[in-house]
Amino acid sequence: MAQPARVCADAYLQIPGISSSNARHCALYLTFDNMNKPAHTGHDIHPLIQARWSPRAFDPRPIDAGQALSLFEAARWSASGGNNQPWAFVVFPADDSEARRQIEDALTGNNREWAPRAPLLVLAVAMPHPRVGKVGPYSYYDLGQSVAQLVVQATALGLFAHQMAGFEADKARQAAGLPDDCEPMVVIAIGHYGDYNDLPEALRERELAPRVRKPLSEFVFQGRWGRPIMLATASATTR
Ligand SMILES: Cc1cc2nc3c(=O)[nH]c(=O)nc-3n(C[C@H](O)[C@H](O)[C@H](O)COP(=O)(O)O)c2cc1C
Repeated sequence: MAQPARVCADAYLQIPGISSSNARHCALYLTFDNMNKPAHTGHDIHPLIQARWSPRAFDPRPIDAGQALSLFEAARWSASGGNNQPWAFVVFPADDSEARRQIEDALTGNNREWAPRAPLLVLAVAMPHPRVGKVGPYSYYDLGQSVAQLVVQATALGLFAHQMAGFEADKARQAAGLPDDCEPMVVIAIGHYGDYNDLPEALRERELAPRVRKPLSEFVFQGRWGRPIMLATASATTR
C-alpha cells in the first residue's frame, strides 16, 4: 500500500501554486496512510473542512448508532430560510432488508460498484416549502446546507461521507416510500475508510488522484462581477 500513497504525495507536491506548508501537510498525511487527502489550500481553513473528501473505498464494518445519530443532529442544527427545515433523511443500514436492496439497485453508473459496501446509505430529501406547498429553490438550498453539516460532522467523527446524484429517482422514491410532494436529491454513502486496493482499477486511480479546485480569482469578486478581489492579495499566504 505504501507505493501508491507515495506517488500520490509526490503529485500533490508538484501542484503549481501549492504553499510549501500545505504541500508538506498533504505529503505527511499521504505518506502515513492513504485515507487522508487533505485540501491543498492557499489560505488557512478549519482542519475539518480541509480533511473532508469523498472516498469510494468503504469498509463494510457498521457505524456506531450514537455516531449515526450525531450526524443527523448536526444536520438538524443547520440554518434554513424562515427556520423551515425543509429536509428529511431516510436511512438504509447494510442489512438484508428489501429496502436496502432497492436503494442499492437505484444507484447508477460507477456508484453501483463501490457504494453498496458502505454500511450506511442515506437518501437526502427536499421537502415542500410550507408557504408555497411545493419543493422550491430554498428547499434545495437548505437541504444542501444541512447535508454539508452532516458531512463535516462525519469527518469530525473519523467517518467518511460521499454524496451521489447518480441514482434513479423513481426507484429511490419506491425504496423509501416517499410522499409525492418530496424530492430525493442525493444518496450519501457513509462509513469508515476501507482499502483502495479493493476498488476496480479505474476507480482506484480516481481514489488516488490529487483533489483540485478552481482558484478563488474565478469565483470571488469585489463589488462587481469579474472584478478581482483585493482582499485576496492582502491576505495571501506565502507560497
Ligand atoms: C450533489 C453532488 C452529487 C454528487 N454525485 C456523485 C456521484 O453520483 N458519484 C460520485 O462518485 N460522486 C459524486 N459526488 C462527489 C463529487 O464528485 C465530489 O464531491 C467532487 O469530485 C469533489 O471531491 P471531494 O468531495 O473529494 O472534495 C457528488 C457530490 C455532490 C455534492
